[in-house]
Amino acid sequence: MRGLSLILCAAVVIILASCKASGDYPGLEYAPNMYHSVAYEPLSQITDLDHGTFTNALDNGRGEFYNTNQYNPYKMNLRTPPAHVVRRNAHGWLPYRGTNDTTGLRMANKLVSPFKNDSTPAILAQGKAAYEMYCQHCHGAKAGGDGKVAQGVKIDGVEHGVYPGVANLKGDAYKNITEGHIFHVITYGKGLMGAHGSQVSEEDRWKIARYVKSLQKN
Ligand code: HEC
Repeated sequence: MRGLSLILCAAVVIILASCKASGDYPGLEYAPNMYHSVAYEPLSQITDLDHGTFTNALDNGRGEFYNTNQYNPYKMNLRTPPAHVVRRNAHGWLPYRGTNDTTGLRMANKLVSPFKNDSTPAILAQGKAAYEMYCQHCHGAKAGGDGKVAQGVKIDGVEHGVYPGVANLKGDAYKNITEGHIFHVITYGKGLMGAHGSQVSEEDRWKIARYVKSLQKN
């Protein structure tokens, strides 16, 4: 009996010891198809040609998870873009390069919306949807500066204070602001209003600007 438990103990120790991971070696993997994609992944770095051979139903002599590009740096499928490459959106627009200062705002006043004079109902409808998501709680449904956040609300018995100084965009002071001005203010914020450039796409910012202008006219 004693001999048997000794052997069992030794077996457990050997099994555990052989599982050890070190350096780049992650150790024995249980169910590797839970971790590794069969499809080509941009950051895949599997360098072992045999990786996952035992699960591979294909006859190509390669491991199931060998989906790496061995000619690229770090064997990733993704290539680093050349220097100074700039992202364009689906319309081919370059990113907004106006600067976050008074000069940037002055220049933004003269910007023409990429939607030009196109005021199809779809643009206004999408502008309205985005306005309701990002602006209405402060500026109000009709842009009168009377959103719930501006007025302060009581939720579950807890009083939420008033967000001060929300602009009434229907007031005389803002009547003549241009779409470019609104676009710039959404991007970088202004005074007490925070920036929304990282949350709202450029396309949606221009649509919101058009929608705000339409609210101002009604
Ligand atoms: C958290 C509340 C809040 C949200 C959300 C908000 N604003 Fe504002 N907004 C303000 C406040 C406060 C001001 C006044 C800023 C100041 O003058 O200090 C302002 C000012 C403005 C102005 C006038 C800027 C100027 O020229 O003085 C515009 C235009 C504007 N907001 C548009 C928007 C649009 C469009 C959105 C949605 C993307 C939005 N705001 C979201 C609080 C908000």
